[in-house]
Parts: sequence; structure tokens; C-alpha cells
Amino acid sequence: MSDLLEITAATVDPALLDLPWEVPLEEWPDEILAALPRGISRHTVRFVNLSNRVIAVKEIGPSVAHHEFHMLRDLSRLDAPSVLPTAVITGRRTPVGEELNAVLVTEHLQFSLPYRALFSQHMSADTATRLIDALAVLLVRLHLLGFYWGDVSLSNTLFRRDAGAFSAYLVDAETGELHPALTRGQREYDVDLARTNIIGELMDLQAGLYFPADADPIDIGDRIRTRYEDLWNELTAVETVETVGANPRLRVAQRIRRLNDLGFDVGELKMTTDASGTRLEIQPKVVDAGHHHRKLMRLTGMDVGENQARRLLNDIETFRATTGRSDAPLEIVAHEWLSSVFEPVVRAVPAELARKLEPAQIFHEFLEHRWYRSQQAGYDVPFEEVIASYVAEVLPAKRDEAILISSDEAASAADDPDLW
Ligand SMILES: Nc1ncnc2c1ncn2[C@@H]1O[C@H](COP(=O)(O)OP(=O)(O)O)[C@@H](O)[C@H]1O
Ligand SMILES: [Mg+2]
Repeated sequence: MSDLLEITAATVDPALLDLPWEVPLEEWPDEILAALPRGISRHTVRFVNLSNRVIAVKEIGPSVAHHEFHMLRDLSRLDAPSVLPTAVITGRRTPVGEELNAVLVTEHLQFSLPYRALFSQHMSADTATRLIDALAVLLVRLHLLGFYWGDVSLSNTLFRRDAGAFSAYLVDAETGELHPALTRGQREYDVDLARTNIIGELMDLQAGLYFPADADPIDIGDRIRTRYEDLWNELTAVETVETVGANPRLRVAQRIRRLNDLGFDVGELKMTTDASGTRLEIQPKVVDAGHHHRKLMRLTGMDVGENQARRLLNDIETFRATTGRSDAPLEIVAHEWLSSVFEPVVRAVPAELARKLEPAQIFHEFLEHRWYRSQQAGYDVPFEEVIASYVAEVLPAKRDEAILISSDEAASAADDPDLW
């Protein structure tokens, strides 16, 4: 290892120093690589097993690496959904003194999937629509924080299953900029580029037969704009309420309720009356994503996706109603629900299958399966029976999403640039 190696990081895991930085990333030995699905990229990216976790290493110019590191660090401080930066390493040289490019190291986002991996399994227009919905939420959240992305695309986003939907995370911040606030022009530019890139990406998938020939990429791509605008307006627009005749207090409560349903909490609301006092303007000033996530966390300590949390909270409410405890505090009911409903389901899943999905996702799928079985049977199928059939019939068919692909598949996939 060269003496001139320079590492920028908040904390350095000593194991990081043992990696073969004097070797170009392309030539890193298979033994240290982790076989996980990778998206399309300009630069060489490799996943590496390091002290019980996985890191992503990207070979890139030193100034871009530092810029991206700082962007990702700022985003993580702002609690934005993005990958977490670990380090930038510069000053790499081969044993014969040849200079090598810098690297940016990030934490591998667990259970995440690049969009191409999803399409190698499902290929439906509906999947594309759900990815775009998730990307619209991500883009609105980033814009609210003043983050201009500059290169929005499906390839630069990672997806996690989140109950029946997906949640999206930013993975590539090379072109990003943080501003106190974004102008309408900056926001529109990001949305336009997202639309163009998505349409191109879907057309590529279609050409490779990974996407239905009769689906229209332009139609689906247009959705990013409508979803983005609807959500942006709901979160930021000024609403005018007549103070005579209407019930302003109710309107404020309704606005907050709609935001909560969309998964946001209102941190601050601005209310102003006009000079005549007949009109009230309501505008959310600070909104925080993760309404259901935080509520479930408070009740149970579970750290899960927003939609998963919404689903679990509904099940807790159902449990409260069906066990005749409508008057009991939700905290108490939530603990009983954990031990008598949630945990038995997760425990019933054999260890080798449990690695496949996150526990909250397993529970979501169990609920889906229970609904399906009960619909078929025409009565409420007993809990134990639903678990048994979920484990026997549904789970084995799932791909192993924590690992997703076997090393054989990974090796051949890595050789096939069209696949990833
Ligand atoms: N921290 C990470 N966790 C999971 N996947 C990652 C991570 N970093 C990179 N990747 C994968 O590598 C791909 C390329 O990374 P990206 O930063 O977009 O590189 P490029 O700048 O070359 O486009 C991503 O699409 C993603 O699939
Ligand atoms: Mg990229």
C-alpha cells in the first residue's frame, strides 16, 4: 500500500486500510467482493464485504469524489433518504507508481434493489408506475430540503420494498447542489430531466424485452411530473379559507390530516388573515416525512418503511377493535399486538427463508396472504393455518432479496452489461 494514501472520513474502520487500493477496482479479486445486484453506471462500482457489513466502492475523479462525499454527508445530516458516505480515498498508486483514480466509499443500502433487478423479475407496467411514485416522493423530499439533484433517473435511485409500494433512495449525488431553497426553475429542471431519463430507461428495458411491448414509456414517464406536482402542491400550497360560513379550524385539521395520510407531519403551519379578516390563509411551512414511521417507532421501537409502518399501524388498530379493547391506550395494545400477532408470524418463518425479506415486509405479505386465503375460503381462515400456508407456498417462491442473486448469477450478470 502506498504511503501517500489519503483518507477522508468521519471514522475509519481499520479494515478499510487492508483493501487492495493499489489495484484498479476492475481487477479486485472475487473473494472480497459481495455478490449483490448493481445498477447501470458510468464508473466502476464494486461491493465489498468489510467487517460484517457491505460497502460500495466507486472509482471516480478526486474532486467529484469529495463533492459527492460532502453532498451525501449533508443529506444524511438532513435525514434525507440517501446512501451514507463512508470515505474518500485519494493518492492511490500501483506498485510501479502508476496513479489510480480516487474512490468514494458508501455503505451498501441493505435490501435495496436497482430498478433493473426488479424488472428482471416482474416486467410489469404497474411496477414501473410504483417506482415512479416512489421517485416522486423522493424528489419532493429532496427539493423541500433545498437539494437540487441535477441527474435524476431510475439508475441513480435505489428502491426498497415498502409494503405494497416502494420507497426510493438517492444513490448518485455527483451533480447535486444544496441551496437555502430551490427556485421553481431548478425544480422544474430536475423534474424534466427525470421524465426524459425515465422514458429513455423504460425504452431501453422495452428493447431488451424486460418491459411489456404494449406499455407506453412516455405515458408512464409523464407520471413523474403529475405525481411530483400533486405532492408538491399538497405539501406547500397556500389554501384560502373564508372565515365566515366555513369552519376554518376544521379546514386546518383536514389539511393536516391529508398531509399525515401522505406520510408527512406538519412541523409548522403558517396562518394569516387578510386585512378584512374574512379570509384565512393556511400554508404548511415545515413538513417532515415519516409520519407513520415515527408513530410506529414510538409505539413499538420498530424501525421500518413508511408504508410498512402504515400497514402495521392499521393492523394494531384492527387488533385493538377486534379484541374489544377500544378504550385501552394504544401503547399497551401495541405491545400485546407485538407479542401475540407480529412476533408469532415472524418466528414461524424458518431461518433460511427469513433472510429473504425484512420482518415488516414478511408481515405485510402475511397480511396479504391472509386476505387472499380468507377471500377464497369465504370465512376468516385461522391464524395458524394462514401462517402454515404462507410459509409453505408463498415464501419459497420469493427471491432471496437480502442477497438477491447467487454468486454464479452475479458473475454472469456482471459480464452482461445489458442485464445490470
Ligand atoms: N451504497 C450503495 N448501495 C447500493 N448500491 C449502490 C451503492 N452505491 C452504488 N450502488 C450501485 O451502483 C450503481 C452505480 O452507482 P452510481 O453512484 O450511480 O455510479 P455512476 O456515478 O457511475 O453513475 C447504482 O445504480 C447502484 O446500483
Ligand atoms: Mg449514476
